Amino acid sequence: MISVENIEKSFGERRILDGLSLDFAEGEVTAIVGSSGAGKSTLLRCIDFLERPDAGRVTIGDLTVDAASASRQEILQLRRRTAMVFQHFALFSRKTALQNVAEGLRVVRGRDRVEADREAREQLDRVGLSEHLDKYPAQLSGGQQQRVGIARALAMRPEVLLLDEPTSALDPELVGEVLATIRGIAEAGQTMVIVSHEMDFVRQVSNRVVFLDQGRVLDDASPEVFFGPDVQSRTRAFLREYHAARGRPEYQI
Ligand SMILES: Nc1ncnc2c1ncn2[C@@H]1O[C@H](COP(=O)(O)OP(=O)(O)O)[C@@H](O)[C@H]1O
Ligand SMILES: [Mg+2]
Repeated sequence: MISVENIEKSFGERRILDGLSLDFAEGEVTAIVGSSGAGKSTLLRCIDFLERPDAGRVTIGDLTVDAASASRQEILQLRRRTAMVFQHFALFSRKTALQNVAEGLRVVRGRDRVEADREAREQLDRVGLSEHLDKYPAQLSGGQQQRVGIARALAMRPEVLLLDEPTSALDPELVGEVLATIRGIAEAGQTMVIVSHEMDFVRQVSNRVVFLDQGRVLDDASPEVFFGPDVQSRTRAFLREYHAARGRPEYQI
């Protein structure tokens, strides 16, 4: 079980997360949706203390870390149970695909070079990049770079994989290959929390949709309900705006 309890986070005077609590079941894909500025990235970053919450607790398995008392050691332990896939990939430009994935295995997991390379190859194979092991990020398409980012995260064997708009920096024709990769990982039973604006994908892949607005959970439903006719009015307004912005009148919500 993964949970956040009463997470509060402000930047200056602005309260971004306002006592937010959520549980994430093992093996499930939870999608976090909401308008820009709703606090989605801040929530993901609070789960692994990339942003330290002002208050609240994060639990992953048998480890609970309280913002009020978290030690460096506890935060490191928390990070070892999570991995993040970033919007802008965050690869080392002077390392090859293989080296980008193997680096964490050596530095964080203490593997020797041979073992780290073996595991890195395995993960890159999983995301369909066996042919590109020795290429540098600049020699790869955006979609391939993001798949390296996903392989790097998977190599850490996280209890929960956090993905922050993993396709939003990609050209439209490259989105599909990355979503297909994420779908495959979800089907393999990886627990995931994913922030995404790809509503078709969210609808198909997630077990649950959490709608965040101004740092609060406004809706928390199965995709069938969330995208169905009985969804609550704020969610309906959000979805209508979303589809209108994309010129998708076929979605009559
Ligand atoms: N490090 C930061 N310093 C100051 N303000 C921030 C910081 N990170 C995020 N914010 C602000 O917090 C709000 C929520 O941001 P974010 O969590 O990135 O939203 P989302 O991912 O939903 O678009 C935004 O108004 C953003 O400008
Ligand atoms: Mg964001």
